[in-house]
Amino acid sequence: MVDTARILIGGDVCLGGRQQVLCMAETPRGLFGDILPELESADFSLINLECPLTSSRKEVRKSGPCLKGHTESIKTIRNAQIRAVNLANNHIMDYGLKGLCETIEVCKNENVELFGAGANFEEASKPLVTQVNSIRLAFMGMAENEGFFASTNRSGANPIDVRNFLKVMELKKSGLDYLVVLLHAGKEYYPLPSPSLLHLCHFLADLGADAIICQHSHCVGSYEAYGDSLIVYGQGNLYFPPFSFSPPSWDQGVLVELSFSKNKAIGMKYKFIPFVNPRGETGIKRLSEIDERHLLDDFEKRSAVLRDYASLERAWETLCLSHSEKVLYQLMGSNRIFRYLLSKLNVRRYFFDEEWYLWLKNIIQCESHRDIAGKILDNHLKKRFER
Ligand SMILES: [Fe+2]
Repeated sequence: MVDTARILIGGDVCLGGRQQVLCMAETPRGLFGDILPELESADFSLINLECPLTSSRKEVRKSGPCLKGHTESIKTIRNAQIRAVNLANNHIMDYGLKGLCETIEVCKNENVELFGAGANFEEASKPLVTQVNSIRLAFMGMAENEGFFASTNRSGANPIDVRNFLKVMELKKSGLDYLVVLLHAGKEYYPLPSPSLLHLCHFLADLGADAIICQHSHCVGSYEAYGDSLIVYGQGNLYFPPFSFSPPSWDQGVLVELSFSKNKAIGMKYKFIPFVNPRGETGIKRLSEIDERHLLDDFEKRSAVLRDYASLERAWETLCLSHSEKVLYQLMGSNRIFRYLLSKLNVRRYFFDEEWYLWLKNIIQCESHRDIAGKILDNHLKKRFER
């Protein structure tokens, strides 16, 4: 039996938008274009499926857009030789339990493996354990909490939760060769990790994860070799219809190629395969040699920041402060007239004094207070807006 396995990981995929016809085509070349041969030749390919595949028209109430794809799209995925999908993300519950159940059903019908979401925490947190050639591999998906995470008695995405850290350790002790974690985390459009995301990824690597691939940022970010593990902080979209405000980085991505050897002295090797989704054109394109070099050089340059923790902290603080006005106004009430009056009359300090800021900070930072505030808001939304 072959004692190596070449695994290909694609980033965020939403199978909707203007190119719906391509997303439902039996022939996957129209959608995947130049990278189709890569997907087909890998020993195992997987993606982050960032939308339910469903016929449901009932969106959940949430902040931000609700995404979905047609159930037929699973054939496009299957015919591109994509063998598994990660569902641990912030859109898999956009059409509620029905959307999730239909997605799971169509995946099962087409023999596409899945992980990262389920009817409850137990199901959602189940890793995908599989054998590729002679290599025993496991994949786990976890997502930051955007309100639709699985719990003891609720369906949803697998959260970043201490119980999962124990599973990572147990998996590594179970005779597995390699473990890959897909982490749906990070700030959209920001190519670096926050200091806390960096610590989390290091911790997962310390627990035994061989590769930790962060997705969700919609841009090619940065990466580091941490001990024997690879950590990627953003690989960009694989296919995600652009929105009017989406920046050019939305259209670029890299496939992460992991080559595993049964021989631990050789271990895991990695490679990044860049591509672009040109707007107004169909199909993913490989870049010219020079553009590919540019993209990989930029990837490399950004990654150098990870080796200087003080710079990483400064970059994060700069990003946070650039959102000051927006976040403060959102916290103070989103009513435009109120905001206008506060700023025009220069009376913000009378409404929001030091005590108010300290109180708000405590509610956001303290786990118990945050849980209480979340429950109160859930209840309020239900009473006031439930149709
Ligand atoms: Fe996301």
